[in-house]
Amino acid sequence: MNLIFLGPPGAGKGTIAAIVKDAYKIPHISTGDLFRANIKNETELGKQVKEILASGNLVPDEITIKMVENRLSESDANDGYILDGFPRTIAQADALASMSDVDYVVNFVIERETILKRLSGRRVCKSTGRTYHILYNPPKVEGIDDETGEPLIQRDDDKEEAILNRLDVYEKSTAPLIDYYKKKGLLIDLDASKSPEEIFEAFKKVIR
Ligand code: AP5
Repeated sequence: MNLIFLGPPGAGKGTIAAIVKDAYKIPHISTGDLFRANIKNETELGKQVKEILASGNLVPDEITIKMVENRLSESDANDGYILDGFPRTIAQADALASMSDVDYVVNFVIERETILKRLSGRRVCKSTGRTYHILYNPPKVEGIDDETGEPLIQRDDDKEEAILNRLDVYEKSTAPLIDYYKKKGLLIDLDASKSPEEIFEAFKKVIR
């Protein structure tokens, strides 16, 4: 099953993708995670995109499309995948159409106020990417990753100025994909304001 998770920043795409990945045994391919891994490992790509991610702007299509093309050519994506955060522009969607068929585009529907609460309280483990929320999904010990014991951090782009920019960028560049995929008959809306368990139950019903 080839899935796209579409939705604004902080809608919970990564949280639900982690559940779907385990349940359906398909890889979770997050372009944000791929960029952050490159930044952490100080690769050429990482150096190129570091400032762009911190500001909340989009990495140029050419770079992003090439990275996804490489990732989808790996053998674990042969029998399905969850693309989380890609495509984010019409040009990326057109490029994906020439690389792979898509079965469903899951559109995470959520209000701005909830997004702001989710993003401002998000904390992550830098080495594993594991995600927490100070109120909704706190770690066992405050500020510490449950498994590695490392200190949790706040993403650079979860600071207020970058969050507001990311929401603007989403409206301008990514929201038009809702109509794009609706016209192709692939779009499924999910109410992303519920708990992760409820969202996953709704997901299973709609893709059945
Ligand atoms: P990316 O990492 O993709 O960021 P994003 O789309 O902004 O998505 P987020 O990771 O912020 O949110 P999410 O929806 O996954 O929410 P999460 O599950 O973490 O991209 C980062 C940057 O990389 C971009 O700004 C851009 O620069 C670049 N980039 C990436 N892809 C690109 C592309 N295709 N083209 C160009 N540039 C690209 O949840 C958020 C919080 O809420 C967490 O704390 C979580 O615990 C909590 N939470 C989640 N679900 C629930 C729930 N149901 N109830 C209560 N709390 C919840």
